[in-house]
Amino acid sequence: MHFAAERADWRNAVVYQIYPRSFCDSNGDGVGDLPGITSRLDYLQALGVQVVWLSPIYASPNDDNGYDISDYRQIMAEFGTMADFDAMLAGMHVRGIRLMMDLVVNHTSDEHPWFVQARSSRSNPFHDHYIWADPLPDGSPPTNWEAAFQGSVWTWNEPTGEYYLHMFSAKQPDLNWENPKVRQEVHALMRFWLDKGVDGFRMDVINMISKPWDAQGRLPQAPVVREGFLQPSFAMTCNGPRLNEFLREMRNEVLDHYDTITVGEAPLATVQQGRDITHPQTGSLNMLFQFEHMDLDSVGGHVNGKWARKALDWRDMKACMARWQEALHGTGWNSLYFCNHDQPRSVSRFGTMGTLRERSAKALATWLHGMQGTPYIYQGEELGMGNVAFDRIEDYRDIETLNFYRVATARGQSHADVMASIHAVGRDNARTPMPWNSGPHAGFSTGQPWIGLNPDCPQVNAEAAQADPNSVFHHYRQLIALRRQWPVLRDGRFQLLWAEDPQVCGYARLGAEQTLLVVSNMSGQSATAPWPEGVPFTQVHCLLSNLDPADHAWGRALHLQPFEALMLLCR
Ligand code: NOJ
Repeated sequence: MHFAAERADWRNAVVYQIYPRSFCDSNGDGVGDLPGITSRLDYLQALGVQVVWLSPIYASPNDDNGYDISDYRQIMAEFGTMADFDAMLAGMHVRGIRLMMDLVVNHTSDEHPWFVQARSSRSNPFHDHYIWADPLPDGSPPTNWEAAFQGSVWTWNEPTGEYYLHMFSAKQPDLNWENPKVRQEVHALMRFWLDKGVDGFRMDVINMISKPWDAQGRLPQAPVVREGFLQPSFAMTCNGPRLNEFLREMRNEVLDHYDTITVGEAPLATVQQGRDITHPQTGSLNMLFQFEHMDLDSVGGHVNGKWARKALDWRDMKACMARWQEALHGTGWNSLYFCNHDQPRSVSRFGTMGTLRERSAKALATWLHGMQGTPYIYQGEELGMGNVAFDRIEDYRDIETLNFYRVATARGQSHADVMASIHAVGRDNARTPMPWNSGPHAGFSTGQPWIGLNPDCPQVNAEAAQADPNSVFHHYRQLIALRRQWPVLRDGRFQLLWAEDPQVCGYARLGAEQTLLVVSNMSGQSATAPWPEGVPFTQVHCLLSNLDPADHAWGRALHLQPFEALMLLCR
């Protein structure tokens, strides 16, 4: 181990997510790889992050870009070798950066040897590694559940004459966590990577591992919320009856024996579940990715699910984040994110493109990073990258996007309508190559990239951002540095301010010695807000802002320019 004497506590850390396929390609095949990541570690060190979350790099047929794993102990050939992995990990550790691997164990690939065996016969020893059910008397699937990527969660398996369950694509069969052998296999593979020196895990849809079996060993029907269609099924499988038990077992068997950092992806998690799972004594993981704030700009219960959009009301966002901040203070820990490989780019979604793009990217970052919790930066977010809008469906690669296009157009929706949803919220928005410079293929690769570039790359790229002291990159760098410098950012209690204001978003962080005031105007219109009662005013020092200091105006009221953001130390 090469850590500095004081080993970074994960509560002080900022995490950077790498989507390896799109980060940096070292061998010109158009696909990012591990040596490419190693070659860019100085960039991460310059930004100042202390942890990397690496999306899956294991052997995979890539039905869902590595979230369908066929061998948990092998590196995907396109990404390199185990020697490349070891070199990357050593390069991180020497720079004081810890590595969180992606643990995808709700499901495997259908090409994993366990499933190949399991599907061959009902008496195969691996059959019980997965979830099987007989058809209904008319031959149809056992439940009305819709899979995340369209269609039924059940696919027919001819050799055994049964259906198998897959909450995502048919090539991602769900593991049967009721089977203790499955849990032991998962623990063993976690130890394999921890023994190699990795520092923890981001756990893919981990709150879906316990399924709601009835006393007869059957799975129930989902309530009908949309007549004539399959029904949303996440509510059936998230936060199941044995979830906490399985996670506690994982903590006892594995996590407690290592110094780890863990975050569980948890769709539909409530604050109560967040508190239970992240409680330092009685919980099992350090943090959760909750989704409530990601669902505020879609129309709930619509047949198009997440693709049916509505405008965000910032009052909803504020209330949501405040609820999580208050509920977990002193009892658990939040993760803070606006973006990842499954979400559109946050500046397009919640900020604005055009002349105020950079200012709005900084306003979003300031508001998020000032809260209590561990902030996550998704590659390119630190450049203020925006969405892409390819005209042709052929230019998209993501299974979720392609399946939605096929199903929605077959139902009669126009190409233009469907593309508008894809441009707004499709996952490929976040998966275009990382722009390193203004050269060919944005310096990502010497060959043709696996997916098109963002057309803004000539202006929006890492080299240009590092050279410009006023860039979004340097704003993030300062936010990360401030978190290390001011313990109030880690420990201070959160108090929501101006709850009813539709554009001024602000809160105080109340520490023993200081109060921090964080304000972002989340709108293209200027705004005024009264100085908040209870926040000291005698000495006000600006720690960070996204305007020239001379342009600020605060007195007994805050006069905020469009997308202005401030972090003020008040005594
Ligand atoms: C969540 C991952 O973040 C996403 O990319 C993936 O498609 C699903 N889980 C299935 O593994």
